[in-house]
Amino acid sequence: MVAVTSTTLGDYLPLVATGKVREIYELDDHKLLFVTTDRISAFDVIMDNSIDQKGAILTHLSEFWFKLMQKKIPSLPTHFLSTGIPSDLKQRLPSDLGAQLDSRSMVVKRLKVLPIESIVRGYITGSAWTSYQKDGTFVGISLPAGLQESQKFDKPIWTPSTKAEVGGKDENITAQQAADLVGPEIVTQIRDFSLQLYDEASIYAAARGIIVADTKFEFGIDESSTPPLLVLVDEVLTPDSSRFWSAERYEIGRSQESFDKQHLRGNDAFGQLNSPKGKTGVTMPEAIVANTFTRYKEAYETLLGCTWQDK
Ligand SMILES: Nc1ncnc2c1ncn2[C@@H]1O[C@H](COP(=O)(O)OP(=O)(O)OP(=O)(O)O)[C@@H](O)[C@H]1O
Ligand SMILES: [Mg+2]
Repeated sequence: MVAVTSTTLGDYLPLVATGKVREIYELDDHKLLFVTTDRISAFDVIMDNSIDQKGAILTHLSEFWFKLMQKKIPSLPTHFLSTGIPSDLKQRLPSDLGAQLDSRSMVVKRLKVLPIESIVRGYITGSAWTSYQKDGTFVGISLPAGLQESQKFDKPIWTPSTKAEVGGKDENITAQQAADLVGPEIVTQIRDFSLQLYDEASIYAAARGIIVADTKFEFGIDESSTPPLLVLVDEVLTPDSSRFWSAERYEIGRSQESFDKQHLRGNDAFGQLNSPKGKTGVTMPEAIVANTFTRYKEAYETLLGCTWQDK
């Protein structure tokens, strides 16, 4: 199996954008082909080597959540249309390329993506814990006194961030700053839907022994409907966009081992990446590659309750 670090569909479809992990092609005016590579980034730095099959795992995990959330929250449309490469395109591709990209491709609605990331935190960790230790607050939100690391909040908190341009770093912002960026009414809708999505996901995951400590959503606007509709886009509740913890191993008062790339972040070999600006040329040791793959696969299998079939 060869990891897919970049896609080569440029001869067949216009390339619209290349993100840290995804490559996005235009299918027509209303549809995009969203191809998830096996690239992995930590501290906004893309590693030189990648995690074989990660793109396929993320694609199918997102597909699962899009379908579940569509049922749980019918008033929130999603950008998901189908997985796999559309058959008319597939016929035009060399068969090995079609086979390689099929499992990591999703057809989505083409939308105007709003320039904020919508983060919901159910537990205090990461940048929220760092900020809280300094002054008891996080991006303008006063938090209760006496919280311990990884403690569950009484109620999940919503903390938006900017969506940095490629190569930049997302910055946490206040709700007011988010409202200034996208408008007060849209921001309220984004917050309310995000909290609802988080609640649904937490209930589902808890029944499978997983804590969703926090997660990030992105939203777009469907301007073709009247009035324009808010739509859930991007990836949903994957180890790249969320911190998943094992409920069994969870212990308050310390940092948690995570299903996601915390594993990669916490590794000594990556200490150098704490100030990653402009860093490139970072290669993960093979043991980390193998371990990270196992964690992604475990997240998929635990959440979906089925075995991952190698792609
Ligand atoms: N339906 C959509 N229409 C247009 N663009 C979309 C849609 N859904 C998601 N996007 C955008 O596609 C890109 C996805 O690529 P990728 O996840 O690699 O990007 P990234 O945001 O640079 O990386 P990271 O997720 O690590 O921050 C994001 O910029 C996202 O906002
Ligand atoms: Mg992304």
